[in-house]
Amino acid sequence: MSSKKQASANPAEETIPAPLTNYKIQYTKIFINNEWHDSVSGKKFPVFNPANEEKICDVEEGDKADVDKAVKAARQAFQLGSPWRTMDASQRGRLLNKLADLMERDRLLLATLESVNAGKIFPNAYKMDLSTSLNMLRYFASWADKIQGRTIPIDGQFFSYTRHEPIGVCGQILPWNFPLVVLMVKIGPALCCGNTVVVKPAEQTPLTALHVASLIKEAGFPPGVVNIVPGYGPTAGAAISSHMDVDKVSFTGSTEVGKLIKEAAGKSNLKRVTLELGGKSPCIVFADADLDSAVEFAHHGVFFHQGQCCIAASRLFVEESIYNEFVQRSVERAKKYTLGNPLNPGIQQGPQIDKEQYTKILDLIESGKKEGAKLECGGGPWGEKGYFIQPTVFSNVTDEMRIAKEEIFGPVQQIMKFKTIDEVIRRANNTHYGLAAGIFTKDLDKALTISSALQAGTVWVNCYGGASAQVPFGGYKMSGNGREMGEYGLHEYTEVKTVTIKISEKNS
Ligand code: NAI
Ligand code: MG
Repeated sequence: MSSKKQASANPAEETIPAPLTNYKIQYTKIFINNEWHDSVSGKKFPVFNPANEEKICDVEEGDKADVDKAVKAARQAFQLGSPWRTMDASQRGRLLNKLADLMERDRLLLATLESVNAGKIFPNAYKMDLSTSLNMLRYFASWADKIQGRTIPIDGQFFSYTRHEPIGVCGQILPWNFPLVVLMVKIGPALCCGNTVVVKPAEQTPLTALHVASLIKEAGFPPGVVNIVPGYGPTAGAAISSHMDVDKVSFTGSTEVGKLIKEAAGKSNLKRVTLELGGKSPCIVFADADLDSAVEFAHHGVFFHQGQCCIAASRLFVEESIYNEFVQRSVERAKKYTLGNPLNPGIQQGPQIDKEQYTKILDLIESGKKEGAKLECGGGPWGEKGYFIQPTVFSNVTDEMRIAKEEIFGPVQQIMKFKTIDEVIRRANNTHYGLAAGIFTKDLDKALTISSALQAGTVWVNCYGGASAQVPFGGYKMSGNGREMGEYGLHEYTEVKTVTIKISEKNS
């Protein structure tokens, strides 16, 4: 997910300070019951800076035993009569707002940590990730005291009403591409609805989540409401998704692991599952589009944050008559990048998150070359140190190539040619994924026809990218289950209870 929309709302007046240079990593432990814990096993794991491959620090490694402790704390905090369960809903909103205020106070540190640990160019971390995170929390804070059921007249001497109750203990498993934003996308709705949470950040990027843990305590959330257990996926993550006392799990990451999560939920206690997974999103450009704008959006659609976005516009379909010009302009645009340490001023592209992703992307680039796509620029690694990949553009891409089918999650653009509307709809939908799509045309009929026909959770017309707290987000097909954000996102964090009352006949 990217976050261009919020940032563009007030980019001009926002001056971006320099990143912190003498910060100290303060929080490296497991956060349970508002206290810091060592791991039960005594193990720690290293956390790296992807720009130079150097270790930043060691973090306590949570596993099943730590998840058990965290789930117990979250369950205790969820007991009927607990401070959290009896808290006025407006006060829940005030706590979320207080957390947002504290994050705003620590914005520079959070943005610096996000840049160092996740390889985000600093201006984006400061402007986009932080403003999106703050918007997200404040949006959900304002929902806390507006979650209402209905009264429903039914047959005869009965009367029904619904209560939207919190589900209970929610496990939340995070990715490394938007560590802070996705933390807010998950804890915001869970907490405003009155749930308690056990969060597992991605093993690559636990640092901002652990700083937020300290702010959770400072804000005054009761102990056990938010617990954060850093650790690996097959251990700590799997312990959450298969836990018998976790009522719901929300996951953002690969489709492969999404399937494992659903399987674990099915094999354990049929916990509720929300999944936000991969994509291979089509972006369709017609000859009548504003070309300058389409080139720019299509470019950012795939290159934003080194291509590490679930919504990456990684299948670009361009109408035949403008194909050559579009390719030429896209290549010029991609060649303009300055790569380097994401903390340094003027840098436009940082590193990929880790060796595994770096290797996967380079392998896919090689497959593109071998399968006959035309390499227009880039096509290999960059620099001596760090996981940098040259901005890469392929033209003459056909639908059966790996680069046209698999999620690359790197700075690699695939440009394909189309002739007719029917053809492009069929080809755009010919994928297991269905997260997002873009359409560029000045013809309203075309835009409406195609936006109805595409199997995608989000369709952008004459723009691409951006997430707003107010707008639901999620995938069709293997891109996910359920929706996050907006009012729709709240439905994933409540159970609807129907209460039916018999009205005494004597009084009628
Ligand atoms: P991943 O799906 O393995 O990791 C995401 C999160 O899931 C991490 O917190 C990880 O610890 C956890 N996890 C891993 N295995 C688990 C398990 N068995 N049970 C529970 N939790 C588990 O993603 P990975 O390996 O980092 O990236 C692989 C590919 O996934 C990427 O190349 C990209 O295509 C896609 N991806 C999509 C994201 C999105 O925003 N939708 C985010 C990250 C990756
Ligand atoms: Mg994985």
